[in-house]
Amino acid sequence: MSSCFTISLSLSLLFFFINFLGTESAPTYLWNYCNSTLYSTNSTYQSNLKTLLSSLSAAAAAANNTDGFANATAGQNSPDRAYGLFLCRGDVSASTCSDCVATGTQDILQKCPNQRVSTIWYDECMLRYSNQSIYGVMAQVPSLMMYNTGNITDPTRFMQVLGQSMDSVARAASADESGKKVAVNETDFTSLQKLYSLAQCTPDLTASDCNTCLRAAIGGLPQEKQGGRTFTPSCSVRFELYPFYNASAVATPAPPPSQIPSPPPASVIKPKGKSNRATVIIIAVAVPVGVGVVLLFLACCFRKRKVTKTYEVVQEDQSSLNDITNAESLQYDLATVQAATDNFSDQNKLGEGGFGEVFQGKLPNGQQIAVKRLSQGSGQGAREFKNEVLLVAKLQHRNLVRLLGFCLEGEEKLLIYEYVPNKSLDYVLFDLEKSKQLDWSRRYKIVCGVARGMLYLHEDSRLRIIHRDLKASNILLDSEMNPKISDFGMARIVGVDQTQANTNKIVGTFGYMSPEYAMHGQFSVKSDVYSFGVLLLELICGKKNNFFYQADGGEDLASYVWKNWRDGTPLEVLDPAIGDSYSRDEVHRCLHIGLLCVQEDPMDRPTMANIVLMLNSYSVSLALPQQPAFFLRSRTEASMKELESDQSASKSTPVSINEMSVTEVYPR
Ligand SMILES: *[C@@H]1O[C@H](CO)[C@@H](O)[C@H](O)[C@H]1NC(C)=O
Ligand SMILES: *[C@@H]1O[C@H](CO)[C@@H](O)[C@H](O)[C@H]1NC(C)=O
Ligand SMILES: *[C@@H]1O[C@H](CO)[C@@H](O)[C@H](O)[C@H]1NC(C)=O
Ligand SMILES: *[C@@H]1O[C@H](CO)[C@@H](O)[C@H](O)[C@H]1NC(C)=O
Ligand SMILES: *[C@@H]1O[C@H](CO)[C@@H](O)[C@H](O)[C@H]1NC(C)=O
Ligand SMILES: *[C@@H]1O[C@H](CO)[C@@H](O)[C@H](O)[C@H]1NC(C)=O
Ligand SMILES: *[C@@H]1O[C@H](CO)[C@@H](O)[C@H](O)[C@H]1NC(C)=O
Ligand SMILES: *[C@@H]1O[C@H](CO)[C@@H](O)[C@H](O)[C@H]1NC(C)=O
Repeated sequence: MSSCFTISLSLSLLFFFINFLGTESAPTYLWNYCNSTLYSTNSTYQSNLKTLLSSLSAAAAAANNTDGFANATAGQNSPDRAYGLFLCRGDVSASTCSDCVATGTQDILQKCPNQRVSTIWYDECMLRYSNQSIYGVMAQVPSLMMYNTGNITDPTRFMQVLGQSMDSVARAASADESGKKVAVNETDFTSLQKLYSLAQCTPDLTASDCNTCLRAAIGGLPQEKQGGRTFTPSCSVRFELYPFYNASAVATPAPPPSQIPSPPPASVIKPKGKSNRATVIIIAVAVPVGVGVVLLFLACCFRKRKVTKTYEVVQEDQSSLNDITNAESLQYDLATVQAATDNFSDQNKLGEGGFGEVFQGKLPNGQQIAVKRLSQGSGQGAREFKNEVLLVAKLQHRNLVRLLGFCLEGEEKLLIYEYVPNKSLDYVLFDLEKSKQLDWSRRYKIVCGVARGMLYLHEDSRLRIIHRDLKASNILLDSEMNPKISDFGMARIVGVDQTQANTNKIVGTFGYMSPEYAMHGQFSVKSDVYSFGVLLLELICGKKNNFFYQADGGEDLASYVWKNWRDGTPLEVLDPAIGDSYSRDEVHRCLHIGLLCVQEDPMDRPTMANIVLMLNSYSVSLALPQQPAFFLRSRTEASMKELESDQSASKSTPVSINEMSVTEVYPR
């Protein structure tokens, strides 16, 4: 024990020393990014850049540098003018900031020789320059994600606490008028562990840009890890189970009164890229000496755990993000796609979805893709088609299948998507054997992921997309069983008029369609909410909605659940494949939300934002559900015909007119 103590003491001293050095002199380098055109040696740009960097360095050292932020420009004429800025982490002292920026101005020239545009990140500061004005311009790429390799014990609860905490700092930072746009938060995770979070934007952003940037960064954070961070040139977020910032140096503004917390949208995480390891050592700081001794002993015994605070670095695919706006980069040759899919061979066929057949393929660079071959004659001109694809390709969220591009040659219209390995949810959920893979925590994760993806479509993306065909076969599962919504934006791409709230072309799938949509073609975000409700109930019960049309004397899933709910036996509906380990509270809450979603009157249904809030918080009280919608009773001949003719061939959930007409039932 005494030897342990000695070792621990020397270790801690060492740690302290490293740490001392780390914060006071050499900043901790994290990453740099420079992938631009080169300037030539001895050019005007080079000399402007030198001037620029020294003014940034001087600004950081100036006595009036209290914000930890400054911008500068050098040179007069446009092509050679250089623009730059730096931002120090909200809690570091002016001298640390100045040291970090000084180091950065030197390092950046070495790490990015002759680059016109570069960014460098340290733990303590970020520095960037460009040949174009960057002040007040939000930049979300490149983006870097790092995570602490330590796992956590109660992932579901952790992700909840993390979500709330991140929401709180994002709101506070974007609303921070003090000129710093930074916020921190400390929340109890368990009685012993606290979660520490920090969010910061460059203060030149507007509140709304800051919020957008932070939400995307939060969306890029790792799941189920002890710590993680995302950086972009305009903002950064970080969380850890230990204090990594100096709380007393950040005056935390109270977050503005909560509206509905937006969930983390956007940002695509690539599973592991470059690996840059940094060991983070934070134990010794801020521990008073007396307590310190005790902690040193603990530190010895738990040394292994502390030392495993290793970071993995994940880098986003900038090239595709950067170029996302230009059509050429998204356009694929027909020949390439034909080669990738073995000329649309039957072996490569994955299935048949709403708007045409889907094929698996592999590009020459090895990338796996899924290709949707739109049925011929979808009445949309080439230009509109391109425009819509460009818009839809901008929607990026971890719970959406990414649209990579398109191909347009002659009669052929193809959409190229990322390939998601685990097939669709219906394939797993409605199979007696496979459904056992879906324990409750997985199902819950799927529900939450789909809800976040839908919220992004409805509110957080600038497009406000109504999906119109949300169903189990449109939820794909990646290798970690994370849900990804597919087939969104199709109405736009194939040219069904989105602005016309009442349309004759119905693109939904029977069983998931809200009554007002199925009968009158009226769609709104609330018709998606209805479909979400059906999906949610299916996930809990493990049964297809239309299963009931044949089996239980024509009762539908919603009324089956509702009856059990009303009679006080809600858990009766639970899929036996879930087994015994589930949280009653979560199941209850999900059933409750599901029932609210399938209310007949769209006004009675919650919004996706409400749903995400309800899923994340146990303190929200929910309205009592009423008897759900049973629209079949008033279905008319005419509306069925409409369905028949326009319902796109959807093999995965086959519905025939016969099945529909069986159902003339009232749930008591
Ligand atoms: C750098 O940019 C080029 C084209 O601009 C792109 O092909 C390449 O993939 C990029 N490299 C990285 C690492 O992003
Ligand atoms: C740049 O200028 C320096 C000093 O004026 C000179 O020694 C060097 O050769 C020049 N380099 C180029 C590539 O012109
Ligand atoms: C800080 O002081 C320098 C001169 O020392 C001045 O040029 C600069 O405008 C000042 N900046 C602010 C934000 O006051
Ligand atoms: C910072 O950027 C703004 C906007 O481009 C500009 O007006 C201002 O002069 C810049 N500040 C410095 C010190 O260059
Ligand atoms: C800045 O450099 C990029 C290449 O890195 C170039 O495409 C762009 O036109 C330049 N912008 C200006 C304003 O010179
Ligand atoms: C965390 O969990 C993953 C898989 O669940 C495992 O591969 C990894 O080794 C774990 N890491 C640690 C540090 O326990
Ligand atoms: C920290 O976040 C929690 C939500 O996780 C919130 O309830 C609390 O008010 C926040 N604390 C501060 C000081 O903002
Ligand atoms: C934390 O910030 C406060 C206020 O700026 C400062 O007095 C204190 O020295 C800082 N503590 C550390 C450990 O840097």
